Amino acid sequence: MRKSKTVPVIRSVIIDTDPGIDDAVAILFALASPEFDVRGITTVAGNLGIDVTTRNAGRILALAGRSDIPIAIGAAQPLTRRGSDSAGVHGGDGLGGVAFPEPAALPIGIGAVEWLAAELDRAPAGALDILALGPLTNIALLLRDHPRSAARLGKVIAMGGAIHEKGNAGPRAEFNMATDPEAAAAVFAAGLNFVLIPLDVTRRVRATREETAMLFASSGAAAQASGALIDAYFQSTTGGDSRPLHDPCVMLYALRPDLFGTEKLNLAVDLSDDPGALALDPSGPSVATLMKVDGTGAKALLWQRLTGR
Ligand code: RIB
Ligand code: CA
Repeated sequence: MRKSKTVPVIRSVIIDTDPGIDDAVAILFALASPEFDVRGITTVAGNLGIDVTTRNAGRILALAGRSDIPIAIGAAQPLTRRGSDSAGVHGGDGLGGVAFPEPAALPIGIGAVEWLAAELDRAPAGALDILALGPLTNIALLLRDHPRSAARLGKVIAMGGAIHEKGNAGPRAEFNMATDPEAAAAVFAAGLNFVLIPLDVTRRVRATREETAMLFASSGAAAQASGALIDAYFQSTTGGDSRPLHDPCVMLYALRPDLFGTEKLNLAVDLSDDPGALALDPSGPSVATLMKVDGTGAKALLWQRLTGR
């Protein structure tokens, strides 16, 4: 969907992602929101390997008719650990077996971190945000290898972590943090204009079966694909009457921060016993962390954009 002439572009964004069912819904939502100028997608290994997440980024853009948006291939492995995957949740193809077209364009020829640095150097300082939907490996590499470019970042808004909620990749570890805890620790400590959206919030933005059926019954590719993706999510997990929409919360916050409540928390990342678990630790860096959400208001915006109503 092209930017509407009447709605001002709020932000130029790059989406860093490991699609992934909920990543796909988040990307379709961003593309249906004219306030975002999506400058590109950088892929990272996480839910599945880098080849699958990169192919899926291309498939999602093809479905949305936005294969003009460049895709840059990012990290195939975490900084120091071996990666894992969550094919059990997202399916072997990473999109729950939902019918998506094949990519209509190849990824660009340079790697994600080099491309991010070049885009940051080209854009006015502070004008380019990263919406981070997966492990933070690419952002940690940007900080390590291109610190001057990283200093030109606007906001970095990342889905990840669990504060009081139980983990989904360890007793207290959330998947994105658990996949690359070293990267998370580096990003938290870098002094970026950074916002973390943990399970404490994302588990309160839940799609019901009725809403899934509504999306299915809507006209438009984004709504129907999102309905099929969330339905697949119901199939692949322990049922229940609703499914959490983790990654869409990143875009929802970027568009409507008033729907969320933020706290400054000093956080330490566990690198050993329960890798990726976050602890409240006075010696840890201060991290702006979302701890409250108007789930009803957030979903209303999500459905409105996906259905074009
Ligand atoms: O814990 C949820 C996060 O892990 C989401 O980003 C989901 O896509 C998976 O990557
Ligand atoms: Ca993700």
